[in-house]
Amino acid sequence: MESALRPVGITGLGSWVPEETVSNFDLMKMIDTTDEWIVTRTGISERRKASEQEAASDLGVQAAQKALEDAGLKAEELDLILVATITPDMFFPATACLIQHEIGAVNAAAFDLSAACSGFIYALAVGSQFVATGMYRNVLVVAAETLSKIVDWRDRNTCILFGDGAGAVVLQPVEEGYGFLAFDLGSDGAGADLLKVPAGGSRKPATLETVRNNEHYITMNGNEVFKFAVKIMGETSLKSIRCAGLSPEAVDYFVPHQANNRIIDAAAKRLNLSADKVYVNLDKYGNMSSASVPVALDEAVRKGFIKKEHIVVLVGFGAGLTWGSCVLKWAK
Ligand code: UT7
Repeated sequence: MESALRPVGITGLGSWVPEETVSNFDLMKMIDTTDEWIVTRTGISERRKASEQEAASDLGVQAAQKALEDAGLKAEELDLILVATITPDMFFPATACLIQHEIGAVNAAAFDLSAACSGFIYALAVGSQFVATGMYRNVLVVAAETLSKIVDWRDRNTCILFGDGAGAVVLQPVEEGYGFLAFDLGSDGAGADLLKVPAGGSRKPATLETVRNNEHYITMNGNEVFKFAVKIMGETSLKSIRCAGLSPEAVDYFVPHQANNRIIDAAAKRLNLSADKVYVNLDKYGNMSSASVPVALDEAVRKGFIKKEHIVVLVGFGAGLTWGSCVLKWAK
């Protein structure tokens, strides 16, 4: 980052997951699978599921309020709310506006950002620019997902993987030398078909036929996404680390997207990081898309694994295809 820009960091965190737990044993009653298959292939034991009444904004509000409290900030002091989600309450208005109203952020601009599982990293990159340039002082980034609403609970290829949850962070100016040191973002739309919800958009609006054909659910080529993920997680992390003028040995803590243990292990190996430097919570929550990284980050900070001065790497990949990573010197 150029020195003319203000240093920006994370000054508050919060996360929230719905109450209902769906275990692998619950899934065994619904589809042809086993706990052993799911645990060995993914590392997931259970995931959370939003109730019929709960939408992404409800989860996001809970996480947002915790992040504001952690930062010691009132909702009225927010200048901008940025929400990363692929499961918005509705096509429009933006889920960010619904959260803005619910928390009483009467002075904030609000918009959504769609980059699937990389959404939180993308939103950090976008939100931090507003603070770095001096346009805004207090930015709230929320990642909120209710994947359970777009998963086909009869499809064993996908329903075992995903869960619901939300994470939020406050971005503010921090001391010189702290906060975000580098970002790397990327995309490859050639892989758009690998992971998508085929219908319900302008390409294929909702009809009785699209509903009958189950085209409003997630479809995924798991093997291809797996290969992409194994390659890109390490690659983008290394790019960010180098862009920050550091080497992998300088990394104190690594918070990766929580999609699959085997993908996380491959990335950690590429960076030569020991297991005690890598946060993993996918056993409890599965893949919460954009919410995975902020929920993991919040837990890692609360457990004391991340402390002031630590060099922290966040990394995600997902539908699009998209990927993103960033390096921070922890400021709090
Ligand atoms: O945020 C991005 C979201 N997506 C991802 O990160 C997905 C990345 N991909 C993966 O994590 C893995 O590819 C999966 C976990 C989805 C699948 O693991 P895999 O080791 O690639 O298994 P596979 O798809 O090659 O399937 C192996 C076998 C197949 O049976 P056959 O054809 O060998 O007889 C599947 O039908 O396992 C079968 N299978 C299952 N068996 C029991 C697939 N799903 C299940 C299941 N339970 N839930």
